[in-house]
Amino acid sequence: MGRVTLWSLRKKKWRGEKITMISTYDFLSAKLCQEAGIDSVLVGDSLGMVFQGLDSTLPVTLEEVIYHARAVRRGAPELFLVVDMPFMSYQVSIEEGIKNCGRVIKETGAQAVKIEGGESVAELVYRLTGVGIPVVGHLGFTPQSINLFGVPRVVGKEEKEAERLRIDFKALVEAGVDMIVLESVPWRLAKELTESSEVITIGIGAGKFCDGQVLVFHDLVGLYEEAKPKFVRRYAEGAKIFREALTKFKIEVEKGEFPSEEESYGT
Ligand code: KIV
Ligand code: NA
Repeated sequence: MGRVTLWSLRKKKWRGEKITMISTYDFLSAKLCQEAGIDSVLVGDSLGMVFQGLDSTLPVTLEEVIYHARAVRRGAPELFLVVDMPFMSYQVSIEEGIKNCGRVIKETGAQAVKIEGGESVAELVYRLTGVGIPVVGHLGFTPQSINLFGVPRVVGKEEKEAERLRIDFKALVEAGVDMIVLESVPWRLAKELTESSEVITIGIGAGKFCDGQVLVFHDLVGLYEEAKPKFVRRYAEGAKIFREALTKFKIEVEKGEFPSEEESYGT
């Protein structure tokens, strides 16, 4: 089959085939994604919450996403790999942004970087694509602006906010973005934006009319129990399965039932 590329993803959009993306942070889960035929893996800065147990994505560093992206790339060498640029790794200046995005591409084997924001990052998007770095945008609820939002919420319900979103979307498209993640956006607006351009839209809490869908691995398999937004569908009860296994181990060790003779080395 060969590696999934921007080109093969565009062909999917043209054919009307849905695109699947999973946000994850380690070798084993990435390997499962590739085995399941997922198109793309994202090393999301949600790793701050899901992997590190922080309460926001803000403290995540460039070194951390690079570390995780290298592990994910080893697990899923064939998938389209996108890496989230952490808070403050691209906001200070265009030069610093290009340098940091370049590091991610060079050191991880990622095929694109993802940055949050619209008009305010359009210049950076233009410069990145100019040097050959594909960019995935991220609009709607953008977790790196949690201190502006206050709490996670739907963005674009009021007309003023919807208009802002349209302007930001257009700015990214004109700057040369290749894909845009729409997070917590009313489905009608996500549909309208998706149909307004050739750019691939990937929804999370943005309805079924986006070109593709993304979920966090640990949400999808039911391992992350800290929060469950409306848009998460749990396809397995991962935490329950693992807790039961651990409890069984504890009981069997305590009872002297593990290990058995077969699980031990003889003389
Ligand atoms: O960090 C992340 O996992 C993300 C996706 C949910 C889009 O940005
Ligand atoms: Na993210």
